[in-house]
Amino acid sequence: MKISFASAAKAPASALPAGRDLLGVGSFEKDKDLLKIADRVFLISLGKKDKFTLDVVRRAAAKFLSQGKSLECQTLRLDLDSLHSKFSLPQITQAAVEGLRLSDYRFDKYKSKPNPVSSMRSVELVSKDSKKSKDIERAIAEAEIISEGVIFTRNLANEPPNVMTPDHLARAAKEMAAKNNLTCKVLGKEEIKKLKMGGVLGVSQGSAEEPRFIILENRPRKAKFSKPIVLVGKGITFDTGGISIKPSTDMDKMKFDMCGAAAVIGAMKVIANLNLPIRVVGLAPTCENMPGGRAQRPGDIITCMNGKTVEVLNTDAEGRLILADALSYAKKYSPMVLLDIATLTGACAAAFGDIASGVMGTDPKLVNRVKEAGEVTGERVWELPLWDDYFDLIKATYADVQNISKKYAGTITAGLFLKEFADHTSSWAHLDVAGTAWNEAAPKPLSPIGATGVGVRLFVEIVKSYL
Ligand code: BES
Ligand code: MN
Ligand code: ZN
Repeated sequence: MKISFASAAKAPASALPAGRDLLGVGSFEKDKDLLKIADRVFLISLGKKDKFTLDVVRRAAAKFLSQGKSLECQTLRLDLDSLHSKFSLPQITQAAVEGLRLSDYRFDKYKSKPNPVSSMRSVELVSKDSKKSKDIERAIAEAEIISEGVIFTRNLANEPPNVMTPDHLARAAKEMAAKNNLTCKVLGKEEIKKLKMGGVLGVSQGSAEEPRFIILENRPRKAKFSKPIVLVGKGITFDTGGISIKPSTDMDKMKFDMCGAAAVIGAMKVIANLNLPIRVVGLAPTCENMPGGRAQRPGDIITCMNGKTVEVLNTDAEGRLILADALSYAKKYSPMVLLDIATLTGACAAAFGDIASGVMGTDPKLVNRVKEAGEVTGERVWELPLWDDYFDLIKATYADVQNISKKYAGTITAGLFLKEFADHTSSWAHLDVAGTAWNEAAPKPLSPIGATGVGVRLFVEIVKSYL
């Protein structure tokens, strides 16, 4: 499906292709000429004016496409001018393209009979503002790059866990980096041992699959700052819970426990393709969390890379253990900003459902930046407090910290745990995407059932906010 810009000023009615395959969208009130750019007109309500956001545009574009498909149209024309009010034309364009691409996604590579391909050949975005054509074309190109990154992330995360092992994820990252002008280094078990990453080693020791530690880097020739932004993502390719084993119902969903890592890898791809002149490092520790004769036990004490000791009271709270080492590893970059993303706690999904991700951090300005990026991208986030008062809940009897809370506040105590390993920087924030990383029950306007790719657009928007 091709998406392009078409100037309405230059498209007289006679230039319309023959046949009843054209559907336009827009507002009659403003534009009686609409019938000249389409032979059928489809009106979509954008809801209340004061609730108009870019996500309304994304969803409207998605709706338009799905309606066009069900009417077996081949070409759609979307009237940008009818959408643009408080946002600029390029912003509207970007949102519309994201809505089209993200809603068009399917993961059916394992079906022996793939779903029939849709009739849709092209979508033309129409505007009368011919002076803006260059800006609109640029916005289309940018949205295509961003959507490609989100889809790359979804594809990684939707793979079944017998395919998507830590080694497979590392190879996928390497291959992506080679094609996209990024550097990529993968540490194997021996190097991980040398670095004394006790968290990564502890979590992976019960699995036949060895851990990997993925390091991606965007090194622009002229970077705006000398210090990088470091992104860290949880890459548990399957979380059985380990010896503290999970119930079997819905355990299959724990293939999505590498959505954080996948989001970092996808965001790095976008950052490279947009040529953003900022140094960005992407770190993804990846393991499989399995029970077995070699698995870690509740009660084990491990020493993480930064020397802090952790009492592992529940082997199912494994994400924070691998993130602890990755956050410590980030110290070597003296990051300007350190951000992590993880499907970390069921408690976060219980609190926010699939509507918002949780954010916590040590730098209120950074947390605000994350929130603002959430409003722009529609990947909304909400803050939880990291007050020291909660720390008692993870003070351990026999070690420095324990990996679960003594009582409640499961998401906050997980955040506070991570803070112990991000203490080398004054600007760190953590995203808990346990509720937003995948769709379970029903398709959503911008994502079918399965991985949503949450975090990719958020990270790209955050990085762009520093330009
Ligand atoms: N990957 C899970 C968190 C999770 C659960 C994400 C459900 C999405 C949906 C994580 O490793 C985990 O198991 N967390 C435990 C922590 C608990 C043992 C303190 C949880 O949330 O139950
Ligand atoms: Mn777990
Ligand atoms: Zn997990």
